[in-house]
Amino acid sequence: MKIAVLPGDGIGTETTQEALKVLDALRLPNLELSHGDVGAAGYRAKGHPLPEETLAIAREADAILFGAVGDPSCDNIERHLRPEQAVLGLRKELGLFANLRPAKAFAGLEAMSALRADVARDIDLVIVRELTGDVYFGEKKRETLPDGRRQGWDLMNYAEDEVRRIAHIAFRTAQGRSKRVTSVDKANVLETSRLWREVVEEVASEYPEIALEHMYVDNAAMQLVKAPGALDVVLTGNLFGDILSDQASMCVGSIGLLASASLGERSTQYGTFGMYEPIHGSAPDIAGQGLANPMATILSAAMLLRHSLGLEAQAQQIEAAVAQTLADGVLGGDLGGTAGTSEIGDAVVSRLLTTS
Ligand code: IPM
Ligand code: MG
Repeated sequence: MKIAVLPGDGIGTETTQEALKVLDALRLPNLELSHGDVGAAGYRAKGHPLPEETLAIAREADAILFGAVGDPSCDNIERHLRPEQAVLGLRKELGLFANLRPAKAFAGLEAMSALRADVARDIDLVIVRELTGDVYFGEKKRETLPDGRRQGWDLMNYAEDEVRRIAHIAFRTAQGRSKRVTSVDKANVLETSRLWREVVEEVASEYPEIALEHMYVDNAAMQLVKAPGALDVVLTGNLFGDILSDQASMCVGSIGLLASASLGERSTQYGTFGMYEPIHGSAPDIAGQGLANPMATILSAAMLLRHSLGLEAQAQQIEAAVAQTLADGVLGGDLGGTAGTSEIGDAVVSRLLTTS
């Protein structure tokens, strides 16, 4: 079982370390780790945010554990060399079109939610975000209008097959949950969304047991804070999914808690090839100080075991150990506590060992 470890920049290196500690504690036989540079680290080491060597390591693996990318020192370099291009490049190159971002309330953390505790308590949803299309990957340009004004362009587009395959993922995800899909779009304004809605309806007809509702993204943003417990599987495009998943993290309590899986069509010997990363970024403001919350990366490692290595029992063990650690009040600064990055990692490991 090969895992490519790409820690990236900032707190990504610190949180990945803790996730590896947790994986190590499981003593999985046949686990092989390889390491690669990405983001600003890749740019500094090899002159590119996604060096060829790193892409090769990623392709050869059964799964990728990814930290975070982004570095203020790169703010002014050309777009194709910016750290973010590493994660966008990996998603695109590896065909990882399906991004699963679960958000679930943790017992004991209700008070940390940006929402009232009685509202936050009910959160148990998963955002199914399309990851390789939309305005993220449409044509981009800068031009100067005849009258001298500068203009920027980003094309938003979806082809029907792109919508169809992510819709199937959402409906299949709903089969294993409460059999409801909320498809989020902006069909009152965008043609892209009108096609999205049409195709989602077509796919829905293949899943008569699943209830489908459509919701405009502005309303979805409102419902996510008003009654998040009413949402279950939220199917949406790349841009809306990016925004709503950050919002969902604050409803749970901290962006340091939410994990994600990015999956494609390729199977491995053990499951589906995928990349696993916290939804947070590299947090340069707290990087290198041992202050980052590693839970999102640890939970991403659990998703890796589940989806790519077929190790459901071990995934659940990690998730239980994380929940227990939080319930015991081992919290980082993001959750009003004082525990440091490695202290939190150690606390998860000790609970893992006592429950397994
Ligand atoms: C995310 C991040 C990325 C995105 C950035 C780093 C390009 O915000 O994974 O949510 O926008 O997809
Ligand atoms: Mg984001």
